[in-house]
Amino acid sequence: MAQSMRLVTLSSACNLLKNNCSIVSYTTRSTSSWWANVEMGPPDAILGITEAYKKDDNPKKINLGVGAYRDDNGKPFVLPSVRKAEERIRSKEMDKEYSPIAGNPTFCQHSINLALGPDSDVVSNGLNATVQGISGTGSLCIGATFLSHFFPGNKEVYVPTPTWGNHTPLFKLARLSVKSYRYYDPKTCGLDFQGVVEDICRIPEKSIILFHACAHNPTGVDPKPEQWKELSDIVKKRKLFPFFDMAYQGFASGDIEKDSLAVRIFLKEGHQIALAQSYAKNMGLYGERVGAFSLITSSKDEAARTLSQLKILIRPMYSNPPIYGARIVNEILGDSQLREQWLCDVKGMADRIISVRQKLKNNLEKLGSSRDWTHITDQIGMFCFTGLKLPEVEKLTKDYSIYLTKDGRISMAGVTSKNVEYLAQAMHEVTK
Ligand SMILES: Cc1ncc(COP(=O)(O)O)c(C=O)c1O
Repeated sequence: MAQSMRLVTLSSACNLLKNNCSIVSYTTRSTSSWWANVEMGPPDAILGITEAYKKDDNPKKINLGVGAYRDDNGKPFVLPSVRKAEERIRSKEMDKEYSPIAGNPTFCQHSINLALGPDSDVVSNGLNATVQGISGTGSLCIGATFLSHFFPGNKEVYVPTPTWGNHTPLFKLARLSVKSYRYYDPKTCGLDFQGVVEDICRIPEKSIILFHACAHNPTGVDPKPEQWKELSDIVKKRKLFPFFDMAYQGFASGDIEKDSLAVRIFLKEGHQIALAQSYAKNMGLYGERVGAFSLITSSKDEAARTLSQLKILIRPMYSNPPIYGARIVNEILGDSQLREQWLCDVKGMADRIISVRQKLKNNLEKLGSSRDWTHITDQIGMFCFTGLKLPEVEKLTKDYSIYLTKDGRISMAGVTSKNVEYLAQAMHEVTK
């Protein structure tokens, strides 16, 4: 009773002041709920597209928003090598004990070997500190958190423009300041290499620079090997710290060695790097949330010290990672036959994407499109940055039930031999 009277009094006092003082109006509202001051946030841009797609009853509708592989019937795909690995795991009747904080040690070893290759000096000399992460996103977050605590230079990370939509928020969440460097040239729908170089030359020394190791998201535009070499030289000269996000190893070209070339060039040139890996795309383990984070150090002792600190950061975040995805990866990468099958599976996915790129371009040309669509086949990986402008994107959705992000990015994984003609026709119509 006494408390409700106090609230009434408080509320009348607040009413007197409410037009002048926003803090008072906050206090008034918070008497009814702790969360009255929480505003509605915007929906996730990509998941919103899927929601709209689901509601559309046009039988010809196509969802090109989501970045998950689909087979040529537009269905989610479980890799045959993964199915086999799961059978083996089932037959082993393994326990369900906790994983160590840094994850499964065999998994960590397989992951760094996959990234750096079998002849890596870094690995043979024990210079890597590798932990299992919650897929690519979680691995990036571990890296961002570590850098936020221990990076001895500027707590500034430079990301390409544009970049994957989660990079900026996750680095900000770790209290790093996020800045950008030029990357994509809308005029050519390709790499603005001169812009990249000019901007990197202006980044203050001892800052962090983020690179997409391959299959840049959202543009599908990667530097060529000789350009990576040049970037490595400039990054060294500018004393920058390179952080590689490798979410698509094998998925881009179909070749795991080719897709890790950038990382390997930088290591050969003596860089110490940070590396986030994901098995979402290349093993189709989207929901398993399995990935890895590595720091390359200068000595075994330094690797042990950084690993100890990574574990101290991980422990309060989620204690230890889930076990199942790492077991699948271990079955596949730890068995030469299954590994061979996986290499075929991943090449099959990459080849299907490369072939629908070609089909889309051919169809647009066949229809007599006056635009140059070379970038569709020049770009690589899950996404194609079409160069379509917002009104064209909106028309595609409104008139043809084709769903994509507003920046004109399409997920090539949603394109099939059955819908490619319809897509080309629609793209042609909206760009006439
Ligand atoms: C560039 C990039 N980095 C990281 C990720 C992380 O994905 P996940 O957390 O599903 O492994 C993605 C996924 O779309 C990506 O495109």
